[in-house]
Amino acid sequence: MDAGRRTEQDRAPGAAGERIVVPHRGLVAPADRARLLGQQGTVVWFTGLSGSGKSTVAHALERRLVELGRAAYALDGDTVRDGLNRDLGFSAEDREENIRRIGEVAALFADAGLIAIVAFISPYRADRLRARQAAGDTRFLEVFLDTPLAVCEQRDPKGLYRRARAGQLAEFTGVSAPYEKPDAAELVIDTAATPVEAAVEQVLEQLARRGRLAPPPAAGDPPELRP
Ligand code: ADX
Repeated sequence: MDAGRRTEQDRAPGAAGERIVVPHRGLVAPADRARLLGQQGTVVWFTGLSGSGKSTVAHALERRLVELGRAAYALDGDTVRDGLNRDLGFSAEDREENIRRIGEVAALFADAGLIAIVAFISPYRADRLRARQAAGDTRFLEVFLDTPLAVCEQRDPKGLYRRARAGQLAEFTGVSAPYEKPDAAELVIDTAATPVEAAVEQVLEQLARRGRLAPPPAAGDPPELRP
């Protein structure tokens, strides 16, 4: 239907184009799910330039968590852009939609009780804030990989900086598109100065300190188990 020519009848509830969404409340309480899994669903959100180490640290963290018996799953730009978000490019609008969808997916993973590890450039502050709001502040841990552009460019694992500098790749983050640094990330790591395993340990420490790797304390628990 031509959206510009809707009649009053077209706009009636249930007519084409009208959204009638009545969320169905689940019957499983988050605390029950957390007790089942021994952890509380959380989003670990890595942000940083291409080549800053997001995917490397995210996948190492995923492996370490699974080795520790935790339910964790890593999502990164290159895989999601191949499937769910294959319709999106790199304009500011498409990046916004990319991050909006991933923010929603990550929040659903956290609802399912997982540690969702997300690794996207996510260059815009407003988009990251929306992802934080989708998950909820206490379930969101933003990790800024503050690796200098010069180091990322020297690593250039996919040869993209070289192509961007040669003018063969438009809107490349850090070269011809902006990256807005976080000003209040829970964790900031420069991977030029921090080995992968040490970065993983720093994230694990944060997760443990925030009580994410244990179920929420029950009313009858002794005081030392309560937050
Ligand atoms: S984001 O900006 O929307 O968060 P995302 O993390 O999904 O980006 O994808 C980044 C990956 O896409 C990079 O690691 C790189 O491999 C590839 N890429 C291709 N073109 C660009 C571009 N113009 N800018 C940034 N990354 C690009």
